Amino acid sequence: MRRILSTREMLKKAKLNGYAVPAFNIHNMETLQVVAETAAESKSPVIIAGTPSTITDYAGADYIVAMAEVAAARYDIPISIHLDHFENVAEIKNYIDIGFKSCMIDASKKAFEENIRIVKEIVEYAHKYDVTVEAELGKLGGREDDLVVSEKDAMYTNPDDAIEFVARTGVDSLAIAIGTAHGLYKGEPKLDFDRLVEIRKKVEVPLVLHGASDVPDELVKKAISLGICKVNVATDLKIPFSNAVKKYFNENPAANDPRKYMTPGKEAMKDIVRHKIMVCGSNDQA
Ligand code: 13P
Repeated sequence: MRRILSTREMLKKAKLNGYAVPAFNIHNMETLQVVAETAAESKSPVIIAGTPSTITDYAGADYIVAMAEVAAARYDIPISIHLDHFENVAEIKNYIDIGFKSCMIDASKKAFEENIRIVKEIVEYAHKYDVTVEAELGKLGGREDDLVVSEKDAMYTNPDDAIEFVARTGVDSLAIAIGTAHGLYKGEPKLDFDRLVEIRKKVEVPLVLHGASDVPDELVKKAISLGICKVNVATDLKIPFSNAVKKYFNENPAANDPRKYMTPGKEAMKDIVRHKIMVCGSNDQA
């Protein structure tokens, strides 16, 4: 029977074969079900991610682990659950203890040396349990739940700093800032592909693209062809889910059965999950 996996092998395989593993931010049982079921239909490895406001404040880490265990046992594909943008070291250690196999320690707001110190502490703990660690160097703009970075505070990743950061922290994957932002864009996003190529040449670990919602497919595909191995999607799942539920209530104002109004939301997410998997090229890679 399959269990929840660490993202280490998944990302290594993606890097070797030139595709990316999609990481979908989920919020509840319905999103988790749709992501796991659709990934299984597409025979894609998949990362089920949650931010602190989902895992700690809304759903409960133990619920998420239990649901992901069910999904991992039910479907014959590699499934991982990932702590996304966690900043609290004690909290990450606690969630590793209860079954998370992959985490992002986000100390990107801190100064370089402090970022290294915090990431290193998590890496030392996580690796004892075969848990994979992602960290961010540079700063993405935009909003991801409670995490807000203004445009003026956003900062691209410096390729030379990336070499030192990876070497000194021992981190397994690196989230880089090359022009994407969390949430929706005001105009068409401009990605700094030269920077991506430079970073790819300088560091060996799999590279992660945050803020992939609302980015034209061709740009995401190009980023993958140049070395991105994990693509994070949150907003592009939330919008169709909410729109479908709103539409249902507009058409059925007296509705009160969650099974009825959640179902169109689930169906709407299914299409987008399937599409993102195709964009990542992870279909048939399970
Ligand atoms: P989007 O909300 O822009 O898809 O960003 C997702 C993300 O990067 C999660 O870490």
